[in-house]
Amino acid sequence: MMEEFYLTRINRIWGCHSADLSKPLAGKVLATLPSVEDGYIRIAGGKITEIGSMQHFKPAAGVDIVDAGRGHVLPAWCDSHTHLVHATSREKEFEMRLQGRSYEEIAAAGGGILNSADVLRAMDEEELYDVSYRRFRDIQRMGTGAIEIKSGYGLDFDSEIKMLKVIRRLKETNEIPVKATFLGAHAFPREFSNDHDGYIDLITRKMLPYISDHGLADYIDAFCDRGFFSPTQTEKILEAGAKYGLKPKIHANELAVSGGVQIGVKHGAISVDHLEEMDDDSIAALAASDTIGTMLPGCAFFLGIPFPQARKMINAGAKLAIATDYNPGTAPSGNMNMVVSLACIRLKMTPEEAVNAATINGSFAMELQHKTGSITVGKEASFILTHTMPSLAYFPYSFGHHPVSKVFIRGREV
Ligand code: NIG
Ligand code: FE
Repeated sequence: MMEEFYLTRINRIWGCHSADLSKPLAGKVLATLPSVEDGYIRIAGGKITEIGSMQHFKPAAGVDIVDAGRGHVLPAWCDSHTHLVHATSREKEFEMRLQGRSYEEIAAAGGGILNSADVLRAMDEEELYDVSYRRFRDIQRMGTGAIEIKSGYGLDFDSEIKMLKVIRRLKETNEIPVKATFLGAHAFPREFSNDHDGYIDLITRKMLPYISDHGLADYIDAFCDRGFFSPTQTEKILEAGAKYGLKPKIHANELAVSGGVQIGVKHGAISVDHLEEMDDDSIAALAASDTIGTMLPGCAFFLGIPFPQARKMINAGAKLAIATDYNPGTAPSGNMNMVVSLACIRLKMTPEEAVNAATINGSFAMELQHKTGSITVGKEASFILTHTMPSLAYFPYSFGHHPVSKVFIRGREV
């Protein structure tokens, strides 16, 4: 692929937000998706250097031209919440759920996250990297141009560090921007089942100092929910993380109104994620804050639990993003195209809202808004070129066979 080229004859370029956009889109503004009709994009050195209308297209001499064939351009997806690094799948638990057992029952019986931790502890770093790198390539092919990845399936010192090292190696491939989140507080490991304070001590006194010394994490996370970490325990973890300069991005309100949203907001979380179970107080706290609410509709879809009340949160003025939650237990798919469809079909978001939530607001949820998340001069040339399609709505409408023609990441076709 050439260093510099024009992509011409684009039916419509979506997500052309201003470079000055300094905050995530809040409330009803989420529906504003600026676009350029009948346009072209100039790409050089992996970045967008010019956006214009075909009417005024005057190509510079010697620059290659790629014909978009009247397809549409969408910003590459910003998947701001994943557990892409994990050892193996858990379809046995899936079958147990099909027979009527709930996710929480399986977890309480020692399955779930602890099951994943057993396998991951036994897997060496090389193999963990290999299986993870395969997923990392897959999600790029489906249109993801930036990703956040969590630890949290190690649950002991060596294994949490192993996961974070694998995430660092994915970061060092320099294929797409990667943010690393330390989620030691994902579940209490078996060896601490009768000593929860002991595990929190291990996280705060041993894991965090090492992670900070070695620059292994950008954010700190805790699963603040019924049967997992209480608001008080979560607060201890977030306070310890803050001492090492790690901002929170937490799991909250998936299984119950957990108080997690308020704890996240109080500690200046970049985002509070899941939000299937929200009462009016949690919605008001979220809406009054700068914290992004990240919904993960693949999880509610896969577990058969209630979907987040997106419209209520939008009407309250919240800043919302959507992400995959790619993990073996509650959302075994890293396909953001599907998430955009689910956001429309099950969260009743408009196509414009879903695209913004999956791109520009997702980029803010990883503090990558200056690099990616929109088709803006100066940002990375990471975008999806669609097949010809009659409208933007056709994209989420075509669930399961999304009209993705090509994916460009930093100016190169994947
Ligand atoms: O985001 N909710 C907590 N963590 C993951 C699920 C982890 C698992 O079951 O492996 C989630 O849904
Ligand atoms: Fe998650």
